[in-house]
Amino acid sequence: MLKIKNIAIFASGNGSNAENIIKYFENTATGKVKTVLCNVPNAYVLTRANALGVHSAVFSRDEFYNSDKIINILQHKQIDFIVLAGFLWLIPESIIKFYSNKIVNIHPALLPNYGGRGMYGNNVHKAVIADKNKESGITVHYVNEKYDDGSIIFQAKCEISETDTPETLAQKIHALEYRYFPEIIESLLMKL
Ligand code: GAR
Repeated sequence: MLKIKNIAIFASGNGSNAENIIKYFENTATGKVKTVLCNVPNAYVLTRANALGVHSAVFSRDEFYNSDKIINILQHKQIDFIVLAGFLWLIPESIIKFYSNKIVNIHPALLPNYGGRGMYGNNVHKAVIADKNKESGITVHYVNEKYDDGSIIFQAKCEISETDTPETLAQKIHALEYRYFPEIIESLLMKL
C-alpha cells in the first residue's frame, strides 16, 4: 500500500477550492489535507478549515519571507505536497527548493495568457472579457519563483458567451476548478 501523502494548501481569500479539495481527500486513500496556510488574518478560508477540522495558520509577510515559521510547520506536519488555491504571494525560494516539483497552483485562465503580477480572481476575468475572447479556462501548473510561470500540467476550457460578465465567467471557471483540480492533485500524488 502506498503511504497517504500529506497536503498543505496555501490560500488568501474565500477558499472555495480549498474546501473542495479538503472534502475530496476526506474520501480517498491517496492524500489528506493537513494544514491550510493563509496570509490574510480574516480570510474566509480559515473559517472553512476550522469547520472541516483542518489545522490552519496565519502568517505575516515578514514571517513568510524572513523566518522559518512556514517551513517549520510544513516539516512538523510532514507535508509531501503543496497546493496553491487562490494564494496571492510568491513562494519563497527556500520552500520552492525544498519542495521541488511538489508545488502546484491553479490559475483561472489559459496561461500563458492573462497571468503575472496582479492577475488574480476577477481581474483576470475582466481582462479576458474586455479582450472579447470566445473562450477561457483553467491552468494547473508547477510553481517556480515567478508569477504563473512554471510548466503547465493541465488545462480545461469553457466558452464565453456575449452575455457573460466577469461574475458569470468566474462561476464557469470555478465549476471547472471544482471538477478537475482535486483529480489532478491526486494523479500527481500517485507519482510521488
Ligand atoms: C480561483 O478561481 C483561483 O483560480 C484564483 O483565485 C480564485 C480563488 O477562489 N487564483 C488566482 O487568481 C491566482 N492567480 P477560491 O478562494 O474560492 O478558491
